[in-house]
Amino acid sequence: MTEQDEIPPFLYVVVCAAGIAADVGKLITAAQEREWHVGVIATPTAMNGFFDVAAVEAQTGYPIRSAWRRPGDARPFPDPDAVVVAPATFNTINKWAAGIADTLAVGTLCEVVGRGIPVGVLTCVSDDLAAHPAYQDSLIRLRGMGVRFGYPYQGTEDEEFRWERALDLVEPGRY
Ligand SMILES: Cc1cc2nc3c(=O)[nH]c(=O)nc-3n(C[C@H](O)[C@H](O)[C@H](O)COP(=O)(O)O)c2cc1C
Repeated sequence: MTEQDEIPPFLYVVVCAAGIAADVGKLITAAQEREWHVGVIATPTAMNGFFDVAAVEAQTGYPIRSAWRRPGDARPFPDPDAVVVAPATFNTINKWAAGIADTLAVGTLCEVVGRGIPVGVLTCVSDDLAAHPAYQDSLIRLRGMGVRFGYPYQGTEDEEFRWERALDLVEPGRY
């Protein structure tokens, strides 16, 4: 085994402030079953009651990141081998496409695309919001940057949010 083989693959899970974020533990479980080590980056709004922060930290073994570290502080996570955004909100998608890096989550997303790291996205955006032309432009722009999207999810009760699709999007041979 080479030295490189011994470094476990690291996945960033970016969590935005959509109601479905309460179930993000399902994605982390599925990722860990596929041998990923997971670090969560949440938007500041998502940290404000959208999911169980303590439970997710216990599950991943890492503190959740939401703000930039201070200069001189150690980097809390290893570099990512892949990044998934689930759920992705209307707000974060539009800021990401426009390059408005005012949260650690969006700043990280802007950076990893530039670094060529695979990024998979599961949006959770209502049909009403998705009809906004800025959102449609954002999707076109992000797809043009190589960002991979799962089927759109509108957040209605009769639909299942299939978290594992996010993992399929970033795994070789599954996309
Ligand atoms: C209970 C609740 C559920 C929400 N669900 C969604 C959603 O599914 N999709 C979405 O785009 N915004 C949703 N929002 C609105 C976002 O939280 C809001 O736009 C926020 O600014 C997004 O911030 P973020 O993109 O930085 O996470 C929801 C808000 C609340 C209070």
